[in-house]
Amino acid sequence: MLNDRLEGLGAGPFQRLATLLADVRPAVNRPSFDLAIGEPRHAYPEFVGALINDNRHLYGRYPSALGTPEYRSACADWLTNRFRLPTGMIAADRHIVPLNGTREGLFLLALAVVPSRKAAGTPLVLLPNPFYHPYAGAAFAAGGEPRYLPAVERNGFLPDFGTLNEADLARTVLVYLCSPANPQGSAADVNYLTRLVELARAHDFVLAIDECYSEIYTERAPSGALEACARLGGSLKNVLVFHSLSKRSSVPGLRCGFVAGDPDLLKSFVALRHYACAQIPLPIFAAGTALWRDEAHVETNRALYRAKFDAAERILSNRFGYRRPAGSFFLWLDVVDGEKAALRLWRDGGVRVIPGGYLSRPVDGENPGQRYIRVALVDDLEKTEAALGALQRTL
Ligand SMILES: Cc1ncc(COP(=O)(O)O)c(C=O)c1O
Repeated sequence: MLNDRLEGLGAGPFQRLATLLADVRPAVNRPSFDLAIGEPRHAYPEFVGALINDNRHLYGRYPSALGTPEYRSACADWLTNRFRLPTGMIAADRHIVPLNGTREGLFLLALAVVPSRKAAGTPLVLLPNPFYHPYAGAAFAAGGEPRYLPAVERNGFLPDFGTLNEADLARTVLVYLCSPANPQGSAADVNYLTRLVELARAHDFVLAIDECYSEIYTERAPSGALEACARLGGSLKNVLVFHSLSKRSSVPGLRCGFVAGDPDLLKSFVALRHYACAQIPLPIFAAGTALWRDEAHVETNRALYRAKFDAAERILSNRFGYRRPAGSFFLWLDVVDGEKAALRLWRDGGVRVIPGGYLSRPVDGENPGQRYIRVALVDDLEKTEAALGALQRTL
């Protein structure tokens, strides 16, 4: 790599998986299943195509960095209804910035907010461990020092910020938290989120709360960080939440999401986006607006996932530490050695999964994902049942 800041990054999880399985061919005459990538494969609403087509003349115009007023209003209204926020707490024109999917926003945020020094030290960026890999890329690219906080069984698969000392908190500039979490499916409740918001304000660091799985749940709707802000009086200071249509509406290729929160942080973020980013095409905004305003397809989507978790429960029962996640479409299965299991599953069962250790980093000689595999339940019910049957038999 040319930029020495990126030297600590190494290969990404899917590059590592491709290397692991490069020379392995699944047994012939067996269907193969890809449960590795978290790409939703349910049908998305018909109106998406129709709206893009109806608005195709807008491909002739440059979109603005702030999108359309209609899109931002749809996002603000959705947040207000979904998280039962006081009317007016989220203003479309001050608190919402559209994104080309949340991945780019999560990455770019670090470049906008990580200073060169804090409290006479290198700035710390806190990440859960395991984590969604762009958080680490962002921390390195921005010149921060990543600190990986274990999110493991003993702490309910959520990082324990109470373990940080004052010196570390003084150096902290940015915290990434994914809730519901990829890969473990754990969800922070409003008490946890409230304590975290208070901590961020006490030590003046930014919270980037990645809530892109908030709509994929089978029982209770997970809480969001804006509920914690409402509970603390409604200020959005230090808090940004990221939401995406990719999982909620099964349109990962649409590239449409948003970030909401602290207007001062959003100002710096937008200033950088004016230099750095491609904007979302206007016809996409038309479809995105309609998607945020429609809940019927989201309920249908949830019902499909619910049926697959029911099937997983039936097929795996309580093997491999099976838990129904509070949110997301992943199983996080304890198979003792995730890499070995992934190899065997592909070779003997034709099932592709990602070793948990590829989604986490060793800290003090211990990799908290090493025992696990992540299984994405993104296909239809029939294919998922067949894949889980093959997985169960192979392991
Ligand atoms: C935890 C998490 N955050 C963010 C994203 C990014 O999604 P998108 O860029 O499609 O909004 C993903 C996608 O896989 C994810 O798993």
